[in-house]
Amino acid sequence: MLETRQLHPTLAREVVGLSLWDRLDDATVAELRALYAQYGVLVFRRQALSEIELAAFCGLFGPLERTVRSDWASPATPEVTVLSNLKDGLGRAIGGLGDGELQWHSDQSYMLNPATGAALYALELPPEGGETFWVDLRAAYAGLPRQLRARIAGKRGIFDYTKRLAGYGRAADQQISEETKRLTPPVTHALVRAHPETGDRSLYLDSTTTIGIDYMDTASGLAVLDEVYESATSDEYVYAHQWQIGDLVMWDNGFTMHRRTPFDPGARRLMKRMTMTLDRYRHVMPDGRLAQSEVGMPI
Ligand code: OGA
Ligand code: MN
Repeated sequence: MLETRQLHPTLAREVVGLSLWDRLDDATVAELRALYAQYGVLVFRRQALSEIELAAFCGLFGPLERTVRSDWASPATPEVTVLSNLKDGLGRAIGGLGDGELQWHSDQSYMLNPATGAALYALELPPEGGETFWVDLRAAYAGLPRQLRARIAGKRGIFDYTKRLAGYGRAADQQISEETKRLTPPVTHALVRAHPETGDRSLYLDSTTTIGIDYMDTASGLAVLDEVYESATSDEYVYAHQWQIGDLVMWDNGFTMHRRTPFDPGARRLMKRMTMTLDRYRHVMPDGRLAQSEVGMPI
């Protein structure tokens, strides 16, 4: 049995005593997979991992995905995304910063089939700020006022990457290739999903990409979403992570959102980021469809 520490009543467990660069036996891997599916956020501290080791560990939870941000990929291991404000010897940014991700979001919500598994590994941290918060959208759904729950029953949100891009603070982070544009048309996802094993319902949300609710006029859709975000991000559903060097945090975007707090741009922050496609029989997963234009044609 793995030793774990409760970090929040429903979300987030710390797993104690593992060296993630070691080969883990099958029973340990099975236990980790179960903990990940149940708690949504797993924390491992004081890890020292090469990119290859990081990729091998994360690959235990699903095939690794290269994200649409190939411009943020590590040159050595393209499955690793670099999130940093640092520059290389030629003065070029060594990765993305995701400044717009200061708001509550779920990674890849703008994709038809989001890869919902993610991990962040902390290599350099600012002295203050730059904390990351996660919110449990199962607990948030259960706590939603009944009338609001009724208003979103059976409804699909419209998720658009152009909204996320517009929120990025750095001009370079706002630029995407034609290929990426082609891969990211507006999509819809059900706002409420049931977990395939437990049947537990959760919200599926991303305040940085939602532009409305399908089959509702834009203003009413956004007004409903505002109320949902307000209720869903109440402190009781939130786990706040204080980063330490060597932390590896994995999360499930299928029933959580996250956000980071700002930090001094003059300080250094370097994180390595993995993306995994999770098992749809063990993890709740969004069911994307192309958004329809007003005249009913696929965009
Ligand atoms: C991410 C993300 C926040 C952070 O990697 O998807 O939102 O704290 N990161 O860097
Ligand atoms: Mn994110």
